[in-house]
Amino acid sequence: PVNLYGELRKNSMGVNFSNDNELKALAEAIQSKNGPWTAEPLVPGAKSAGATVSVTNPADRRQSVGSYVAADSATVEKALANAVAAQHSWDRLPAASRAAILEHAAELLEARRGEFIALCVREAGKSLPDSIAEIREAADFLRYYATMARRLFGHPEQLPGPTGESNQLFLNGRGVFVCISPWNFPLAIFLGQVSAALAAGNAVIAKPAEQTSLIGYAAVKLLHEAGVPAEVLQYLPGDGATVGAALTRDPRVAGVAFTGSTETAWAINRALAARNAPIAALIAETGGQNAMIADSSALPEQIVKDVISSAFQSAGQRCSAARVLFVQEDIADKVCDMLAGAMAELKVGDPGQLSTDVGPVIDEDAKKILVDHAARMEKEAKKIGEVKLDAANTGNGTFFAPRAYEIPGLSTLTREIFGPVLHVIRWKADELPKVVESINATGYGLTLGIHSRINDTVDYIQGHARVGNCYVNRNQIGAVVGVQPFGGEALSGTGPKAGGPHYLLRFAGERTLTINT
Ligand code: SER
Repeated sequence: PVNLYGELRKNSMGVNFSNDNELKALAEAIQSKNGPWTAEPLVPGAKSAGATVSVTNPADRRQSVGSYVAADSATVEKALANAVAAQHSWDRLPAASRAAILEHAAELLEARRGEFIALCVREAGKSLPDSIAEIREAADFLRYYATMARRLFGHPEQLPGPTGESNQLFLNGRGVFVCISPWNFPLAIFLGQVSAALAAGNAVIAKPAEQTSLIGYAAVKLLHEAGVPAEVLQYLPGDGATVGAALTRDPRVAGVAFTGSTETAWAINRALAARNAPIAALIAETGGQNAMIADSSALPEQIVKDVISSAFQSAGQRCSAARVLFVQEDIADKVCDMLAGAMAELKVGDPGQLSTDVGPVIDEDAKKILVDHAARMEKEAKKIGEVKLDAANTGNGTFFAPRAYEIPGLSTLTREIFGPVLHVIRWKADELPKVVESINATGYGLTLGIHSRINDTVDYIQGHARVGNCYVNRNQIGAVVGVQPFGGEALSGTGPKAGGPHYLLRFAGERTLTINT
């Protein structure tokens, strides 16, 4: 593919499932990597550490995956001091040198994908196809931001001026960037944030989600091996209340890249604003209440196939996932019947098996929210389908059976439900404007699916819905780096879009130089 800047660039190829040798080599690589994995803060000169936290497998809580040592407050302080001292020389490196390091990291990641896939399966409970996709997306981010760093930061822009004067515009790093990443894309979003901040010339302190600290550690070690200096990229595992809060209230932090809940983004924004310090950049990618709208011209088979993958793949633990299907009433009965039938075919279980469609949810807290929501839906909504769990495969993990419910309207949903629950709402032919208004009224604006073969309908919805990523006649998950730059607006995020041509600019400062020649 040709990117927006006209350069040839290939996305990572992943695994060829039709090649037996490739599959066998991968299976062996994954089987031989059983851990236990360990992690600790990567902060040069730090002398103390916090508590040791043990990590278990979401698919079977009896299995230990490893443990990590959390950062204490003295380690957070040392990391900030190191980052401030190291940033300038990293920023002064030619952008091409930073880019080459990121590209080298992408090569190393692909060469060692077996270990990273094993980690994604065992620590995050991600299915094999999802874990393979993590490696691809992470490699794509590393290469894409390397390309963009060369393009944007490689040389100053010459600006016009009067005779005898030279004017130049330079991009530079902002300073110390804190990257706070989520557990649902523990490698791809983690490395996406970190590599963008590094590419732009910032020193980075990376705080992984507590649930996926081991994957974050392996990713940071990889970048160090590829050539990022230890003080320029530091790793601080720990909980949000101590590590995250200590970082975001510190006046030395010039920017924060955060992916997670809207509520946490508000808290970070407030913490940054309360400092008597230079105003920090906040890049937040948050939640959604994503809908798919299907009209009666759409093919029911295609709607069902695409809503199944949009709502239930990754156990619905994607910010892009479809939570609500608006289906026109003429085809609603047919679509609901087919949906129930397709759900009955889904296999929930061990994410390490290729035959598994849906793995576990991340932890007990996540499961409890889903169980409580389902209990409410059992009373207030009409059940369309529920996948049967096989106790032998799921009894010791944090599994939650995918479900679909018919509800009267969007006001039944009071919050984002982050898991495999789909809600279906019927609409009548003259209600399309009302449907779109109700979606906008949620305040979120991340993804939207449209299923229709009527161009005017597609144009109307696309023109009136306030969302970041709109997908027509396909599923609405799995944005590809450089192809579907990803991110929402309003309550769903600040922009700019990850994997898009403007992302690095938000990590950068700008300076001009005027010389009277
Ligand atoms: N980028 C992911 C997707 O498109 C969500 O974070 O599904």
